[in-house]
Amino acid sequence: MSNTFATIHQNILEWYHKNGRKELPWRNTNEPYCIYLSEVMLQQTQVKTVLERYYIPFLERFPTLKALSDAPLDDVLKMWEGLGYYSRAKNLHQTAKQVDKLPQSIEELVRLPGIGQNTAHAVAAFAFSKPVPVMEANVKRILCRLHTLTNPTPKQLWQIAYEMVDTQHPFEYNQAMMDIGAMVCLPKNPKCDECPLESVCKGKYDPQRYPAKQKKTVPLKEENILVRSYEEKLALIQREGRFLHGLWGFETIKVAPCSAEYIGEVSHAYTHFKLRCKVYVQYECEKEQANYFSIQKIKKLALSKVDEKILKLFLIQCEKEL
Ligand code: ADE
Repeated sequence: MSNTFATIHQNILEWYHKNGRKELPWRNTNEPYCIYLSEVMLQQTQVKTVLERYYIPFLERFPTLKALSDAPLDDVLKMWEGLGYYSRAKNLHQTAKQVDKLPQSIEELVRLPGIGQNTAHAVAAFAFSKPVPVMEANVKRILCRLHTLTNPTPKQLWQIAYEMVDTQHPFEYNQAMMDIGAMVCLPKNPKCDECPLESVCKGKYDPQRYPAKQKKTVPLKEENILVRSYEEKLALIQREGRFLHGLWGFETIKVAPCSAEYIGEVSHAYTHFKLRCKVYVQYECEKEQANYFSIQKIKKLALSKVDEKILKLFLIQCEKEL
């Protein structure tokens, strides 16, 4: 098996050196901030748009994380104008305010605003040469076809990606995988005869079956949640707006306080959007500042689905029985 991988890795590297988009500016820098910026811009925007109108002007205006942090948010949003998904710009700005330099580990990167697993892996691989795979949309398509997967879970995909990554050349391997996805393993009419993975691809006889076409995508809403703890009790608020009115839940906050501990992420798919929450815990809070309930009592209250997941995460992390 490792022999097969060795040949495949070699094919991929050769393909990249001949055909890869090696001139892309974020592939010709080892400055973590520049790589991070490119990955955030590329989260929901095509290479062509980022390249033509946004990446260079943004870096000219904010050449370092410090320059970004010192700038007013309005200026950052102005440079983002037309690129869409403005929470990306707000999160970039917030991250610049939180750190002097980007951390190297995936665990620390995902704690920063706007950095999910995909971006954390890309920054770790490209800026810090970590031997980890990236999981961008084009890469997912390749993995699905290689293994004839129609509806894989993220866990399945990450497992395959980790088994396959070229740990000796994570930079070239990952950039190559994205390029193979963008230039060869196309959604329609893939060019299998040009593909360096053709010899090991199980989906090549009917590639368009993999992955199955996705139903309409729903927007993703991201929130930070703070679980305040005081003497084994947790603070809850009762929702007042139209959404989830009357249900009890944990507090949504803009930015986690420095003293809070990050314990993980929970997601829930609502009809019109998906909610993804980064969960923080603050111990020994001030008693007067919130409404505290024992775990026993909380289990009797009406919690929204996502708040139930948050509670479960909290209890698991604290090694208590549900
Ligand atoms: N999409 C996300 N990251 C990318 C990269 N480094 N190069 C090209 N497209 C990308």
